[in-house]
Amino acid sequence: MFRMTAAHDRLRFELAVHRRAGLRRMSPRVSPAPATTAAGARPLFAPAPAATATAPERQAQLDRVAQEVASCTACKLCEQRNRAVPGEGALDPPILFIGEGPGADEDASGRPFVGRAGQLLDKMIAAIQLERRQVYIANIVKCRPPENRQPEPDEVRACAGYLERQIAALRPRLICTLGLPATRALLPDVRAISAVRGREFTYGGVPLVPTFHPAYLLRNPAAKPQAWEDLQLVARKLGIVLARRNPPPASN
Ligand code: URA
Ligand code: SF4
Repeated sequence: MFRMTAAHDRLRFELAVHRRAGLRRMSPRVSPAPATTAAGARPLFAPAPAATATAPERQAQLDRVAQEVASCTACKLCEQRNRAVPGEGALDPPILFIGEGPGADEDASGRPFVGRAGQLLDKMIAAIQLERRQVYIANIVKCRPPENRQPEPDEVRACAGYLERQIAALRPRLICTLGLPATRALLPDVRAISAVRGREFTYGGVPLVPTFHPAYLLRNPAAKPQAWEDLQLVARKLGIVLARRNPPPASN
């Protein structure tokens, strides 16, 4: 049966990843991607095709997405935007971070994660010894939801194709979703970020690790040590050997 086969393949993929990471068996906290569970909700996005595009082709695909987003009217979020925020970063990124949607600073500048949450995201990236310019940062909706409310399901659906095309163009080595809305966009069965953060999933064959949204961490600094655990997992999966053992993503 197709679903069983897909689940089986995914499990084998995860086992292979673990074997490569030198683990003898899968930790009980690691589960196959919920997209294949019996509840059967389908992921919003189709799995990305294998990377065959050259760097200039990928750049052109990303530029095209940015152009289309700038004049998109596919959902009501277009009405109040100042600037659409397609996303930015490296062409061949080890990590694609996916947030929820632009806030006021992002809407004004056209760039993702440049406000307070963005400053914390920069620190999270630095904590795994990467620089912002080495990763890619995008959101599930490209236009600012009014009053920073959560994007509504019709808005997420309307915008999904852009993120899908970005993932297909980038083929990141790992996806890190920030907070529940971003995580649910890719893993529809997820109900609580606390239930999935720091665990490994796959999306279209790409390893995916959810963690807390930096805006949540600003409001709840007590959760930072957990976010640091998640980032350490991300680093391990990318083969990054961390020099420091215990820095929770710094003060804020
Ligand atoms: N929060 C997000 O989710 N995305 C941004 O780009 C900025 C803040
Ligand atoms: Fe288009 Fe996405 Fe902006 Fe909605 S949020 S108008 S779908 S780019």
